[in-house]
Amino acid sequence: MTATLTVDPVHPEPELIRVAALILKKGGLVAFPTETVYGLGALALHEETVRKIFAAKGRPATNPLIVHVLDEAMAKTVCATWPEQARAIAEALWPGPLTLILPRRDIVPLVVTAGLAAVAVRSPAHPVARALLAEVAEPIAAPSANLYTEISPTRAEHVRKGLSGKIDLILDGGPAGVGVESTVLDLTGPVPTILRPGAIVPSQIERVIGRIAVVSEHVRDEHARPSPGQSKKHYAPKAQLAIVAMGDAGLMQDRILRVRKLRGRVGVLIHSNIAVGQDGLVLRRLPKDPKEYAAALYDALHDLEDAGCSHILVEAVPPGEAWDAARDRLKRASA
Ligand code: TXA
Ligand code: MG
Repeated sequence: MTATLTVDPVHPEPELIRVAALILKKGGLVAFPTETVYGLGALALHEETVRKIFAAKGRPATNPLIVHVLDEAMAKTVCATWPEQARAIAEALWPGPLTLILPRRDIVPLVVTAGLAAVAVRSPAHPVARALLAEVAEPIAAPSANLYTEISPTRAEHVRKGLSGKIDLILDGGPAGVGVESTVLDLTGPVPTILRPGAIVPSQIERVIGRIAVVSEHVRDEHARPSPGQSKKHYAPKAQLAIVAMGDAGLMQDRILRVRKLRGRVGVLIHSNIAVGQDGLVLRRLPKDPKEYAAALYDALHDLEDAGCSHILVEAVPPGEAWDAARDRLKRASA
């Protein structure tokens, strides 16, 4: 049985947080809102509880988890080193949608890092996530609260769709504000490198620590990186997703007709002013602002999936770092 507790996203009720913390302390699984997407939490320093996360998600043991911490002090309990760059970034950008990869301390079970020598740490900004971390007073391992290969959840309903019956509790704190997963920054090499684009863009990090690198899509696809977000098919809706050039209504109509011939149900996601008029389409117009777009994207994909779309045509997003996260997720979903 999976219980749901509705919690105030701004001022979480202490008694509800205590219930969730107790379940975690007893070795249970609790889904909770973060500012990016909902996470599926278990105590990070206990091998047996962490294994339950992999089992509930159907996630391969080769995919490492992000360890959520309240602050820099808690991060230092799981990281073997804490370089000046980490200190500066934590000061400037934590709590927030940024995950740091650093050498792992021995207290972190190897199941968490999938056997890697490095651990991923993030201090979330969402008041519910923070209240939970403060109450359990130890690190919480939490991947996105979805089944392996399915779309990340930005609402409690999305969590329920995939994990109902497999986890103990869902804390429903309303929709997640950022809407795409955190930026992952590797600090273990000579040059800090973004492994996964997210809400925190390269220029924000470069303002704090100077030049960084971004792993190119090409490199990510060629060499299987030790991280789940890197596997091509990670963010996959059940429908077949294709990207259509931006601002080209004619091309979009053409693609719609082609899918229609296959007798599929077509979902269309657009963000520009193009007019797409056809009966029986499931059309969603997303905001033009990249932040608002990201916040609405997974929700729209879940919607189209629930509406039974067999094909989803997505208008390509503009160039530029503000769109990196959305572009990356769409590319993977269409791979
Ligand atoms: O926003 C987020 O990051 C959400 C919320 C719940 O915090 N979590 C999330 O977790 O997206 P997950 O498991 O779906 O994605 C984990 C990501 C991988 O894509 C990978 O890039 C990175 O974390 N990762 C974890 N451990 C790593 C490690 N030891 N080395 C390199 N990358 C690692
Ligand atoms: Mg995930």
